[in-house]
Amino acid sequence: MASLTIRQLDEKLKKQLRLRAARSGRSVEDEVRTILRGAAADAEAFAPPAASPKNERKAETGAPRVLLIIGGGIAAYKSLDLIRRLRERGISVRVVMTDAAQKFITPLSAGTLAGEHPYTDLFDARSEFDVGHIRLARDPNIVVVAPATANLMAKMANGLADDLASAVLLATDKTILLAPAMNPNMWSNKATQRNIAQLRADQIVLVGPNAGEMAESGEAGLGRMAKPLEIVAAVQALLAAGSGVLAGVRMLVTSGPTHEPIDPVRYIANRSSGKQGHAIAEAAAKAGANVTLVSGPVNVPDPRGVNIVKVESAREMLTAVEAALPADVAVFAAAVADWRTSTNNREKIKKTGKGTPELALIENPDILSTVAHRKAKRPKLVIGFAAETEHVVEHARQKLARKGCDWILANDVSPESGVMGGDMNTIHLVTGDGVEHWPPQSKNEVAAALIRRIAATLDVKK
Ligand code: C5P
Repeated sequence: MASLTIRQLDEKLKKQLRLRAARSGRSVEDEVRTILRGAAADAEAFAPPAASPKNERKAETGAPRVLLIIGGGIAAYKSLDLIRRLRERGISVRVVMTDAAQKFITPLSAGTLAGEHPYTDLFDARSEFDVGHIRLARDPNIVVVAPATANLMAKMANGLADDLASAVLLATDKTILLAPAMNPNMWSNKATQRNIAQLRADQIVLVGPNAGEMAESGEAGLGRMAKPLEIVAAVQALLAAGSGVLAGVRMLVTSGPTHEPIDPVRYIANRSSGKQGHAIAEAAAKAGANVTLVSGPVNVPDPRGVNIVKVESAREMLTAVEAALPADVAVFAAAVADWRTSTNNREKIKKTGKGTPELALIENPDILSTVAHRKAKRPKLVIGFAAETEHVVEHARQKLARKGCDWILANDVSPESGVMGGDMNTIHLVTGDGVEHWPPQSKNEVAAALIRRIAATLDVKK
């Protein structure tokens, strides 16, 4: 096999690699490894579909449906390739174009590739009589916005609906996937970042943007639209998550922190937000599972379509978990407090002026380990999380053995990672067979990827 060192690469490429590595908090060598691993996975995922072009239209009857909204950016030309790539995989594509998008590419080229004329005007009587913006919004399985411009995202974050694209985005009840594309200064602008935080909180999924050269000469940074095949992969992951792949599966998820009372007004807590566990519960429900979510105290909204049991302390969580068994799959995403106070102070501890009170701690039950070691009613797949601040994978491996679970999703929660309370997560999936390093992605995307992985494993185990 030929060998290549980073030193041999040209300066431009080295600069881009450094930029990517800095962004993801990895060394340049690790970044290269991540890219190569991703490329190898892509080669597998993007193997040519079995369908031949001749039977393509036939395959589209009953096929998954994507509504592609093309925004007005130079990256719009890549959306033409995206239409082709989606249709090659048997996914039917209906196109909406903003006015600005039509300055970059024509409705004729988008329509030729999609196999039907794109929709462009909210007040066009013909299209309103044909499907209308409400049907455009409801018919697809998923809505993709590529390129998603700063303007379109600002409108979405604020619920504006002054053209066909934004009206459809406001009216849809389907998952929305955004592929942002813009100049790096526009991307890093505080207003854009505020809008993105809002969109993520609204359960909207993002793919990209990537780092690299911009269309404007001499400009580089974060803001390039994700590649069409990356967008296709994200679409496929979301379609799988919403396709009933877990129909009939009983799933138990724990989420959030626990609060361990010190006295009636004070408690011991941690910084877990519940975002990851809640996203997993919602993704599982979307995939057709019958989900019970046992949640500690959180500020995130209740996920749709799940049975929620709200608890405060670790002991209450264990009781609720045991009551929810049997389950086929159990995911323990809660950050359960390891210790609680040994005394049960029924009255508020008073400041006496005679020194500080001592808090004696005792260990809480380990819920994951208790369930994983059960003889009766042990779920087929018991999955834990490992929040680590150092030696992430090594500690996760030890945890897998110690806790007796089947998988550990390990993540770095050191303060500089921004994982605790944040929207992004980088997962290393440790199983009995080895370790998979997942790319940095939003907690919703982690949830979708986990659901796909669970569905594939249950299928094998059937
Ligand atoms: O040992 P550690 O707390 O790092 O293990 C993390 C995993 O164990 C998570 O999946 C968490 O939900 C679970 N856990 C638990 N009960 C505890 C402590 C952790 O279920 N008391």
